[in-house]
Amino acid sequence: MSAARFEPAGPLRGNYEPPADKSISHRAALFGAMSDEPVSIANYLDAADTRSTLDAVLRLGAGVEDEGHGRVLIRGVGLHAPLETTGGRLDVGNSGTLLRLLPGWLAGQPGGEWVLDGDESIRRRPVDRIVAPLRQMGARIDARDDRLPPLTVHGGELHGTRYELPMASAQVKSCVLIAGMLADGSTTIVEGRQSRDHTERILARSRVPFERDGLTITVSQVDELELDAIAVPGDPSSAAFMVAAACLVPDSRVVIQNTGLNWTRCGFFRIAQRMGAVILADLEEPGEFSDVEPVGELDVAHGPLLGTEVAPEEVPAAIDELTLVALLGAFAEGDTVVHGAGELRHKESDRIAAVVDGLTALGADIEATDDGFAVHGDGSPLRGGTIDARGDHRIAMLGAIAGLASRDGVEVLGMDAAAISYPAFERDLRRLLGT
Ligand code: S3P
Repeated sequence: MSAARFEPAGPLRGNYEPPADKSISHRAALFGAMSDEPVSIANYLDAADTRSTLDAVLRLGAGVEDEGHGRVLIRGVGLHAPLETTGGRLDVGNSGTLLRLLPGWLAGQPGGEWVLDGDESIRRRPVDRIVAPLRQMGARIDARDDRLPPLTVHGGELHGTRYELPMASAQVKSCVLIAGMLADGSTTIVEGRQSRDHTERILARSRVPFERDGLTITVSQVDELELDAIAVPGDPSSAAFMVAAACLVPDSRVVIQNTGLNWTRCGFFRIAQRMGAVILADLEEPGEFSDVEPVGELDVAHGPLLGTEVAPEEVPAAIDELTLVALLGAFAEGDTVVHGAGELRHKESDRIAAVVDGLTALGADIEATDDGFAVHGDGSPLRGGTIDARGDHRIAMLGAIAGLASRDGVEVLGMDAAAISYPAFERDLRRLLGT
């Protein structure tokens, strides 16, 4: 396991472009693989998770060509095409998104049988959340203890259904929408709270018949996708680490360019603004929808922060950044409390435990609650110490940012986990620090 030390440093200054969006890259590769015509993807994320998706579509018979300059061409096999490998093991690595989205496609391929498995962390990620709706659609699918990977998908005929999501999950929603394209009739999914809508946007771009009425989405069976080239914007979840660093390290000012500003992904920026963070941005408005992803700039400067309460309705749009809310809370004046975020226990690590134990070791006054955490800050910096990433890319990067803003520095155990979503994280950070 690699360790890295992050000493107090700064300010962060300059322009910066985050790596490509992980969620959108996964979807672009999968929808490319389901298309009949080749799809060129500009700015495809080059990271461990999204390489797992390219490897999986290659195993399923799609072509993947590196066109240079971050562009990848996918030669798909079509939505209903007999997939080249009608059986075998697909390694999803560390990717929960691949684990949950791909079965939606495979379940509708009569005659095929695949086993999806991955690393130690993936084996702890629940899949009953996709097994239930897929079975309701007629799929034959087995999981270890009916709940965990490895997951065996036996392809077959699917039937349209109506499914109410028991939890806010874009992955489950996306799995059902993908299966819905193969199922007879129409398939309706009802969300309790709005989760990221990248799949809906790519469905619209692929000219798949679907309707959206508030939190109810209906997709109908289609024969083929009509997908043109896709340009992947920068990842707001990766940018969030530099935003947090610029907020916390005195005298910092960073302009973040070419970042996705989709409303369903930008909850963290709104929460940070409410805490008093100086973030100028043209964030998308709630309810806006188009078949393209909004892209723009964030202009961030250091400033004092105040504690805040995060309500359950705000959680899905900030789900991957809630640990950074805890970090900001540890430097803010007053209490920061996050409610309705029990889903954090099912991420790459149990993120409630990882952030509470991790920040406690760095000197924060933070406690876990049933569905989130509460941090008590007095406006002074964290002391520092050692934090264990627990194999979780987002906890590793959080530790690094905590170190820069701390009094004594932070040692991150397992820093190499950052390569799951952001291989150039340390390089980009050093550039903004001018070191
Ligand atoms: C993702 C959805 C979220 C998020 C994950 C990526 C996606 O997971 O945490 O990092 O790309 O759809 P859930 O659907 O489990 O909330």
